[in-house]
Amino acid sequence: LSIGILFGGRSSEHEASLASAASVLKHLKREKFDLVPIGITQTGQWMTQTTPYELQGAYPDQIHHPPLQGQSPNTQVVDISTHGLPIMQHPLSSVTQKIDVIFPLLHGTYGEDGKLQGLLEMIGIPYVGCGVLGGAISMDKEKTKQILQSIGLPVVDYKAYRRAELERNPEAILDDIEERFDYPCFVKPANGGSSIGVSKVRSREELRKAAHLATFYDHKILVEKAINCREVECAILGNEDLQASVVGEVIIRDECDFYDYHAKYIEPSTKIIPAQISDNLTYEIQQQSIKAFRALDLTSLARFDFFLEKETQNIYINEVNTLPSFTEDCMYPKLCEASGLAYPDLLERLIELAVE
Ligand code: DAL
Ligand code: MG
Repeated sequence: LSIGILFGGRSSEHEASLASAASVLKHLKREKFDLVPIGITQTGQWMTQTTPYELQGAYPDQIHHPPLQGQSPNTQVVDISTHGLPIMQHPLSSVTQKIDVIFPLLHGTYGEDGKLQGLLEMIGIPYVGCGVLGGAISMDKEKTKQILQSIGLPVVDYKAYRRAELERNPEAILDDIEERFDYPCFVKPANGGSSIGVSKVRSREELRKAAHLATFYDHKILVEKAINCREVECAILGNEDLQASVVGEVIIRDECDFYDYHAKYIEPSTKIIPAQISDNLTYEIQQQSIKAFRALDLTSLARFDFFLEKETQNIYINEVNTLPSFTEDCMYPKLCEASGLAYPDLLERLIELAVE
């Protein structure tokens, strides 16, 4: 089978995508699959004959977070306008190699939110990951929580605000937030990932800045209650017969305020797999993940991130990632590995799920 590997893209998680794709390109079984790397620049141009390393090199002025690891086959800076081959018409129509399945290693908007999936449905190419509806809902933290609440799953208290109302009447919105939430609370773009644009705030001044930052990334922001918690995660794999992985825990270092971009990619936090929690809690997290997977109309894979409140041992679903970060050291592959599926086999299984 010929597998089109999509990476880069227009979202704020472009860099994380390059790291995921580099890892997948390295570990997909070459004896079984022909690989067709396809990069998407930050402005949305699709390029063939490029690699994650070359795409990263195309933005020399940027500090790259996360840096790509491992030996780069080609680390020189390339001018993407002359190097990769731009693809014209519909983005895949001039790829001369046949592509049987697309493996999108794109995180965030225009990759994980149903838009790419709609394009692939229209041109009739099977792809790894969930479809349009599941991706669109799961990308939007407000819609996700509304659906999860509707089936009785616990989420922390939250409220969404639109950028337009914040711009029209900022003080009234800040008053509303302060009435409803105690400090500290979180402010996030509703459609985002990797904690980009997320702030933990402790005063009105911080709240004002955080709201401004979050509205840079999205037309809608979420304010959430902050709880004193551990962070635990569960991987689901499958279309109809779902497998829930063991549960993993992220240990956030004391100097980190929360599980932010730095703690995710720059100095990655330690993962404890399986998490040291009771069998009952593990079971509950697995069952809630499966219920949420169904309710959100997902297929193929998703990683569910939970808060485990320290004082009460209550669990809350924080969010869902339908294309979670995917280097071999990332949580989703690690959870699958600990549950018996090694990284190259996981990649193969995902391709099988895409065509079944
Ligand atoms: N959104 C990133 C990729 C993650 O949660 O893994
Ligand atoms: Mg995320």
